[in-house]
Amino acid sequence: MTQPDVAGAIRAALLAADPRTKVMAARAVARDWRFGRLAPVFNVAMPERPGRPAHPELLPPNQMPKRGRGQSLRGRIALLHALAHIEFVAIDLALDMAGRFGMEMGPRFIGDFLSTAADEAMHFALLDRRLRSLGSGYGALPAHNGLWNAAHETRHDVAARLAVVPMVLEARGLDVTPMTIERLRAADDEVSARILERILRDEIRHVRFGTTHFTAVCTERGEVAEDLWKSLIQRHFRGPVSGPFNNSARATAGLPRSFYDSIAL
Ligand SMILES: [Fe+2]
Ligand SMILES: [Fe+2]
Repeated sequence: MTQPDVAGAIRAALLAADPRTKVMAARAVARDWRFGRLAPVFNVAMPERPGRPAHPELLPPNQMPKRGRGQSLRGRIALLHALAHIEFVAIDLALDMAGRFGMEMGPRFIGDFLSTAADEAMHFALLDRRLRSLGSGYGALPAHNGLWNAAHETRHDVAARLAVVPMVLEARGLDVTPMTIERLRAADDEVSARILERILRDEIRHVRFGTTHFTAVCTERGEVAEDLWKSLIQRHFRGPVSGPFNNSARATAGLPRSFYDSIAL
């Protein structure tokens, strides 16, 4: 019996628009890869744009309604909804990493980023379930449409993709999540705080996958990792790299201060 190919399975998960379907598909592809049920064959291209549900409405970041500091129930729902959207897009970012660059990078890379996609699917599902228990749910509020741009901008180079997505965007999550956890605890929302603690632990591993594979690419290309990272960030990342930084979580994830200190605003 011929095995289904991994790129086809990843492409199908990327194109899934319904959140539940995407969550199940991302977890299934990660599991099937781990158990050797998918052939390392890459003869389909990844889509330019992943599937998206009809809701949430996607708005440019500058048109997003302002949200409070997460103390009131409405403020917490807005915060959790924004985080659920980030996790939803993160499923596709990890799938696209594995599907687009897996052939050139090899099986360990594919496994690392498919396991990341499964984590992101779990993060999304936990947040969506929490939103539902608070009387809301993913799709109830608008979300911003800027997150996929980082992937689109870096679709031609695995080094640029690793530099921007895990090593800047996901690393930023390490910086801000501890403060968000404190805010949720201050609002007596222990359930949401625990979900974010779990997410933070997993995100350290995601950043580590990014730095590990970025370093390997640099070695292969004969580049100095720190220099290449800085030049790729300057070329491909639109926003500022700004603190305050969670230096200890970043160090655990293999991201040294020398990388970001000198370009931080
Ligand atoms: Fe996540
Ligand atoms: Fe992540």
